[in-house]
Amino acid sequence: MKSEVPEKPDASGHLPLHVAVIMDGNGRWAKKRMLNRVKGHEKGADAVRMIVRTSREIGIRHLTLFAFSTENWQRPKTEIKALMELLKRFLRSEKQEMIDNNIRLNIIGEMEKLPADVADNLRQTMAETDGNDAMQLNLALSYGGRSEIAMACAAIARKVKNGEADITAITPDFFATHLYTADIPDPDLLIRTSGEYRISNFLLWQIAYSELFITPTLWPDFSREEYFGILAEYKNRERRFGRVDD
Ligand code: IPE
Ligand code: IPE
Ligand code: MG
Repeated sequence: MKSEVPEKPDASGHLPLHVAVIMDGNGRWAKKRMLNRVKGHEKGADAVRMIVRTSREIGIRHLTLFAFSTENWQRPKTEIKALMELLKRFLRSEKQEMIDNNIRLNIIGEMEKLPADVADNLRQTMAETDGNDAMQLNLALSYGGRSEIAMACAAIARKVKNGEADITAITPDFFATHLYTADIPDPDLLIRTSGEYRISNFLLWQIAYSELFITPTLWPDFSREEYFGILAEYKNRERRFGRVDD
């Protein structure tokens, strides 16, 4: 544990409402230490605890963490099993903290594809934190942006077919209400660790105007200090949304 913690970033204005994170690099962190990849995921869980706590503390309203992608099902069965066990352990250890700190848990992704015991655990925690409103923790599990968009298209097509919606009603705003993130504002800030310059099928629709930060730090090494540094830099970004500055 580091004993010195920097000042909180100045929370006046310019704090992102929604921070999304592609938590990448657990395997490489382990490999560098000649450890099993699973050890990297275990250490990564500590960084998850850190970013949840820190975000809540400074007043982030939405934190979305990419924990398992639709493509990650192609990993070895042993790694998938370890990740699911780790998720259950995380829920066990963090549920009370979420309740005490007024954090609401929400899942985006194909929950029906998760092992039944994991899904039950998630549902239970979601129910117990449902009334919480200080921060929403959105865990992306078996999440893929393309599947999400295809799912929204199917839902809209069904409505049109049943006469519940007219084709002319299909605007971007209408479309967005059919995504997992219907009640969530778009991310203001997207962080990717481990230095890869790609999106890997995360929130494809929602990040149209997000500010992107890519850091070479491997996820298990991502610290509170680095997070504050990124939030400080975010403040200096000029978001134009296609307009010209005054
Ligand atoms: C991210 O770390 C965690 C998940 C995708 C579940 P990785 O497991 O992708 O780590 P690297 O990219 O192999 O280092
Ligand atoms: C993205 O990381 C998915 C998660 C962080 C859960 P990956 O490691 O799966 O992405 P790629 O393979 O480097 O694109
Ligand atoms: Mg990776």
